[in-house]
Amino acid sequence: MKARAEIKEDLEAADNPYSSIPAVITDIQDESPNIKTFELEPEEPLKFSTGEFVQLSVPGLGEAPFTPSSSPNVEEKLEITIMEAGEVTGVLHETPPGETLGIRGPYGRGYPLEEMKERDILVVGGGVGLAPLRSLLYMLMDKPEDFGKMSLKYGARTPEHLIYKDQLDKWDDSSVLDLELTVDEGDEDWEGNVGVVTTLLEEPDVDTEEGLAVVCGPPVMMKFTAQKLMDFFDPEDVYLSLEKNMSCGFGMCGHCQLGKYYVCKDGPVFTYDQVKDIPDLWE
Ligand SMILES: Cc1cc2nc3c(=O)[nH]c(=O)nc-3n(C[C@H](O)[C@H](O)[C@H](O)COP(=O)(O)OP(=O)(O)OC[C@H]3O[C@@H](n4cnc5c(N)ncnc54)[C@H](O)[C@@H]3O)c2cc1C
Ligand code: FES
Repeated sequence: MKARAEIKEDLEAADNPYSSIPAVITDIQDESPNIKTFELEPEEPLKFSTGEFVQLSVPGLGEAPFTPSSSPNVEEKLEITIMEAGEVTGVLHETPPGETLGIRGPYGRGYPLEEMKERDILVVGGGVGLAPLRSLLYMLMDKPEDFGKMSLKYGARTPEHLIYKDQLDKWDDSSVLDLELTVDEGDEDWEGNVGVVTTLLEEPDVDTEEGLAVVCGPPVMMKFTAQKLMDFFDPEDVYLSLEKNMSCGFGMCGHCQLGKYYVCKDGPVFTYDQVKDIPDLWE
């Protein structure tokens, strides 16, 4: 790990580490009442690895971190799925196609695809947490022969809060991914499971001795999911995508400190083993 003084020297040597490149919004998909997917075309291709994040800025207002939900194999355009949460995301939800945003990055450490090879993979998502997992699933399903059995358990508040409904239908028909959905509260048309996502984890349908699990969702969901997975997996085989308030994105400002880690630089993907003893992990 680089010392802060070294990082500072690197930054001073760089032009301006905070400068963004322009990215035009080319399409917007409504996913749920409070979640939209933005398709962006950056001025120059933005190469990222699945699970890394970018800082997206609204000119004159501010920026916020997001993990692309598209495949890193598509470099000319990228998709970012955004839940309305506050100031920046609120304005983004009002911004139409054709407008230009700023984008910088990618930052952090994403999913360790090499370590996943030839192993069964249990993917557990909650709400907008399916966004980074969709990017990961695109990579896994691009070369399914490289991996073991793949299983996705995904939960949302209600059926209308499930995102990527067309993609979920395709995955449901896929022979390389087992998909199970759940909602906290069903409606008259819902025939699937009702209950929090941990209710789908009583008997995991993957090899938990040799396999691994990947989890992303709201903090409370990740907390209880990680604890539940400890019945079956070793903590070093459970990967979490963590979120902390961020500013610089590259290990300089200290905003994202979590125990001995900076989430922006050492994460956002961590094993549960790395973080499970940090007292304010889920705050
Ligand atoms: C690495 C990373 C990847 C992320 N990927 C996605 C994604 O793909 N899709 C998505 O919808 N969201 C994602 N987020 C969360 C997103 O960054 C926040 O929702 C956003 O920063 C809120 O900005 P705002 O200006 O709209 O809200 P604000 O007005 O700043 O705040 C609204 C509320 O959200 C809290 N908040 C602000 N920033 C964060 C944050 N980073 N994490 C947790 N709480 C925060 C504030 O404390 C406040 O309570 C990610 C966060 C991180 C750190
Ligand atoms: S966001 Fe600045 S150190 Fe992590």
